[in-house]
Amino acid sequence: MASLKFSDSEQSDAALLGLDLGNRARNQLSEKDQAVHNWYRFVLSFPPHLVRHYLQRFSASANTLVLDPFAGTGTTLVEAQKLGIPARGIEANPMAHFASSVKLDWSVKPDDLRASARQIANLAHHELTLLLDLAPALPTDAAALLFKNAISPRPLQKILTLLGYIDRERHPSWHYQRLALANAAIPASNLRFAPEVGVSRKQKADAPVVDLWLKRIEMMATDLDTIGQVPPLGRVHLGDARQPHRCLPPHSVDMVITSPPYPNEKDYTRTTRLESVLLGFLENKAGLQAVKHELLRSNSRCVYSDDTDDQWVQKYPQILALAKTINQRRTDLGKTSGFSRLYARATTLYFGGMVKHLANLRPCLRPGAQLAYVVGEQASYLQVHIPTGSLLATIAQDLGYELVNIDLFRTRRASKTEVDLREEVVVLRWPG
Ligand SMILES: C[S@@+](CC[C@H](N)C(=O)[O-])C[C@H]1O[C@@H](n2cnc3c(N)ncnc32)[C@H](O)[C@@H]1O
Repeated sequence: MASLKFSDSEQSDAALLGLDLGNRARNQLSEKDQAVHNWYRFVLSFPPHLVRHYLQRFSASANTLVLDPFAGTGTTLVEAQKLGIPARGIEANPMAHFASSVKLDWSVKPDDLRASARQIANLAHHELTLLLDLAPALPTDAAALLFKNAISPRPLQKILTLLGYIDRERHPSWHYQRLALANAAIPASNLRFAPEVGVSRKQKADAPVVDLWLKRIEMMATDLDTIGQVPPLGRVHLGDARQPHRCLPPHSVDMVITSPPYPNEKDYTRTTRLESVLLGFLENKAGLQAVKHELLRSNSRCVYSDDTDDQWVQKYPQILALAKTINQRRTDLGKTSGFSRLYARATTLYFGGMVKHLANLRPCLRPGAQLAYVVGEQASYLQVHIPTGSLLATIAQDLGYELVNIDLFRTRRASKTEVDLREEVVVLRWPG
């Protein structure tokens, strides 16, 4: 059994879970954890110290496999790889899948990355300073997917010019260069995350795109200098967590550490829209719809008439009652908008998708497998309280999982109601 590199200072349970930190800091990336995690992250990614807590608690080792079926930007996978623990991920959003794949590849030589980036910056220099009128533009269908004024014309031209050189040169570190550009596009844009993505009123006419990009390249190279050439232990599949058996062998998974979406109106395709369009993961409306189809229905923008996941909750009276309460509240408040009409359905589709995930995961788990699901209570649908953690625990128990505990990770203040909502970790065991 390999000995894990959990540091001594982190042996205490409370410190690992971040409970010695204030409520806000508990969800933040600490300075010492920034390496690789910072190459690209969601605003709402969970922190590496939370992952370490459960890896340690579940006795993870070089001989165990950890799964994150909703891998996002790869926090679980990267943290496991840093500790020498094999890991698999599933992620349905191509941009997040790309980011976590690059974050798991530590094979490039840092000086090659630096040198090739400098060469590209030099090649692009002339065009970037002189020929902007002739710079490439986004195809109309792709541009239509961006929020209005998400990025000003000049920074956009610079990004597309640089991307053209990166793609033409296709250096072995090409994928690092593309991820660094995706990351640099955010500060070059007019987007703000609060934490929902929006467009700032104050727009940047221009931005130092090449400098922002080179800074990120240097951050990656410095991290690679420190890490050294480590063989890849983590891999992420582009797929649907509701069908985990399609990409995982039977009885292969020893533990799951994950944070699925919550029923909270958050649309992950919006959070990553700019980068997804720039890197060509989303080319038109049909492509966007296809990605949305693969996602758990956690918001009303992602509900389709042919969705069937709600079939999976028909035997759960708590979920059906919740949907009824949401609909009743809508009627009482006289809300008639198209989105509010879909809140109840989004809720049943969400929990139906989670039933499907937990049911189809069972054949992939080793007997005795341990699972940690980080989920938040919600009140996004007309302020109806959704106890996500306890509902998932009920579903899991019905599917044969044992409930070990519901841990409190932190609380969040709901902006409209000023009520504290619990963010919890549902800890389960699969008896086999
Ligand atoms: C809360 S985020 C996970 C964040 C992750 N823990 C991190 O640190 O970056 C949930 C992720 O689930 C993904 N997702 C949603 N539905 C999915 C599905 N059906 N299959 C796989 N991934 C899905 C979303 O794209 C999003 O990246």
